[in-house]
Amino acid sequence: MARTLRILCIDDEPANLVLLEGLLGPRGYDVIKATSGQEGLKIIREQEVDIVLLDVLLPQLDGYTVCKKIKEDVEARNIPIIMITALASKEDRIRSIEVGAEDFISKPFDQAEVLARIGMLLKIRESEDAFTYTVYALARAAEINDEDTGNHILRVGEYCAIIAANLKMSPKIFQHIRIQATLHDVGKIHIPSVILRNPGKLTPEEWSEIKKHPIYGARIIGDHPRLSMAKSIALTHHERWDGSGYPYGLKGEKIPMEGRIVIVADQYDALRNPRVYKPAYDHQTTYKIITEGDGRTMPSHFDPLVLAAFKNTASQFAGVHEKLKE
Ligand SMILES: [Fe+2]
Repeated sequence: MARTLRILCIDDEPANLVLLEGLLGPRGYDVIKATSGQEGLKIIREQEVDIVLLDVLLPQLDGYTVCKKIKEDVEARNIPIIMITALASKEDRIRSIEVGAEDFISKPFDQAEVLARIGMLLKIRESEDAFTYTVYALARAAEINDEDTGNHILRVGEYCAIIAANLKMSPKIFQHIRIQATLHDVGKIHIPSVILRNPGKLTPEEWSEIKKHPIYGARIIGDHPRLSMAKSIALTHHERWDGSGYPYGLKGEKIPMEGRIVIVADQYDALRNPRVYKPAYDHQTTYKIITEGDGRTMPSHFDPLVLAAFKNTASQFAGVHEKLKE
């Protein structure tokens, strides 16, 4: 990275901030100080920050709440957070993990330990960035034949993360699904664009070719454990809760949770955007079609739990579509 790495330290005790600055400044880090949660959140919204050291016991907004808010922010949630606290009970550690913190250090802290943890998290972040970039590049390459371009893959990832968060899945899972769901249609790279862009009625042969894209996708993604969710999503994102989907006609809980989430996210985006066979619908119409059905899309296609999560978060879907529209 070209610029100096920036560490945001949030602590209401000025003495602690001075201590951290004295430790980190001479090691070449740029230290930004905040004495309250609100001030810290404001800095994160306005500046680029590479890592956050966050005191748990803060007046007004406590550290857990601040951590949770950062992890809920689409722009900021990839910033690693180390919670620092005088509390060292098991419950505090569990709570830190629950709100999405990457690491936890007890006060008084060992300086070498602080430096080692920061170094490790920054290294992980760098390799995560490279991994994510490569996943997106592959997803974008697969769009070349398709009518979906630009931000479709990113929007689907964001919708999935919203549903996963509403279903109270762990921050780790919703981070995975956000990135890996972008590969759901990677198998379309095998389908000729004359079929994908055909505005007329497809022949049974053409239709059966399209229905193979989940299997092609799973084959392209392969067996690397880090992409196991992407593979599962590619394979099952057209399976329907009532068993009427493809490629296998899986039913109910036989369909992996990630597949049940992506079908709702993918449907929402397909309805909101123009297709060769239909115009773009607005949010209200799309909501009505997903929750009440229109003969083509039916609520019985979706896991009732995922559908409930969609209803709870529908306004966030509209927000993502607005923010990431092409
Ligand atoms: Fe698909």
